[in-house]
Amino acid sequence: MAGTTDVVTRPFTVAAGAVKRLPWWVGPITVTAVLVGFGIYVMITILFFARGEYENYLSPFYSPPIGTPSWWPDWLSPAFLVLWAPLGFRATCYYYRKAYYRAFFWDPPGCASKAQQREPRSAENYRGERNLFVWNNIHRYFLYATFVVLAFLTIDTVRAFLPEGSFGITVGSLIFLVNLVLLWTYQISCHSLRHLVGGRVDCYSCVTGGSARHKAYNWLSVLNRQHALWAWLSLFSLLITDVYIRLLLAGVVPDLRII
Ligand code: FES
Repeated sequence: MAGTTDVVTRPFTVAAGAVKRLPWWVGPITVTAVLVGFGIYVMITILFFARGEYENYLSPFYSPPIGTPSWWPDWLSPAFLVLWAPLGFRATCYYYRKAYYRAFFWDPPGCASKAQQREPRSAENYRGERNLFVWNNIHRYFLYATFVVLAFLTIDTVRAFLPEGSFGITVGSLIFLVNLVLLWTYQISCHSLRHLVGGRVDCYSCVTGGSARHKAYNWLSVLNRQHALWAWLSLFSLLITDVYIRLLLAGVVPDLRII
């Protein structure tokens, strides 16, 4: 398994090595631009555009589709009733925390760089993740909620392979499949899940199912090493899936059938 994962991730590891040779500020600025761009795209589409649904495709931003209570304002998309889980999951993710602390708060802007010496907050004033940021500790609960959302996205992906009610492979269904695989990989490479499965166990032979937990822990650890990669790839795949559905809705591209 480790060998297979290495083959998949090696090009990205090489690319990461090349990125490390860039000036230190390229990373924080790129992260800022991508996260702000993603946030703006999500807000604009769900506030101002129709629900992303085309034939047997439902945009992951709207899944699962649920009804709104009577007090729900008409102008507010029902997508918000679902989005709090995946957005909260990403906002409290250990990797994204590192990324946006550096990108938005410059705290620190780049480790081992001279910029660290110009950090806005000195080391003496650093107080860790307190006050508002203490809420990051509920990451585990977002993890549970996101498993429910992923279950619905899995059903949506099965539906994507059933154009006109019978099995078929289209460009759209492949986009759904890639998105689902990346989302699941991001989910199960989560640091919190790894801790729950085996990281908190001191003695595997002393607990029920210790051997299975140890194997699962090792397996998750392989995926966890590339957690940042899965975080970014799954973010882009979400975006691509929604954009593809909107292009279909607008009649800009046809949904090519392969089988
Ligand atoms: S640590 Fe990133 S999703 Fe849990």
